[in-house]
Amino acid sequence: MGKDHPITRVELAGETPLGQTDLMRLDQAFPQSEELESLVYNDARHSLFKRVWLRDDRLAGVRWVGEHPQETEWLVGLMLEHREIGTLRPYLLAPGGPVSKENTKGKIVCACQNVGALEIKRAIQAGAATLQGVQSATLAGTGCGSCIPEIKKMLGQESGFSR
Ligand code: FES
Repeated sequence: MGKDHPITRVELAGETPLGQTDLMRLDQAFPQSEELESLVYNDARHSLFKRVWLRDDRLAGVRWVGEHPQETEWLVGLMLEHREIGTLRPYLLAPGGPVSKENTKGKIVCACQNVGALEIKRAIQAGAATLQGVQSATLAGTGCGSCIPEIKKMLGQESGFSR
């Protein structure tokens, strides 16, 4: 996913909690380099096992076990935008990140589904290239339809041509 800074996202689900051996095997799927710094949060009691890898103050990988994938959306956004972490570092392992859900959404574009401009932008950057793609990724534009012109405008701005 992502055009300028492609990333790979994998979601796994299973009935049994992962053990330390499983986590070590999972971590082997991430790039291995001495240049990478990693931050770890383990809470075995709640089966939360989080790890992020950093290179040059940018996210190079995220392994997030035990919380809803939605809690990683802001990290995915950081990776797609290839943003420097800077003052966000203390929040990297916090669920949902440092800002409220409202701020991660951006200005609300679709009032029916409560979807913001940043969410739509991230969906487009992740490969949603059509109105239908944005609708299935975010649900924006699936209610009254009054936001569809704005979504189409965003598609044109993000992709460089109108649809
Ligand atoms: S405002 Fe988006 S579908 Fe109604």
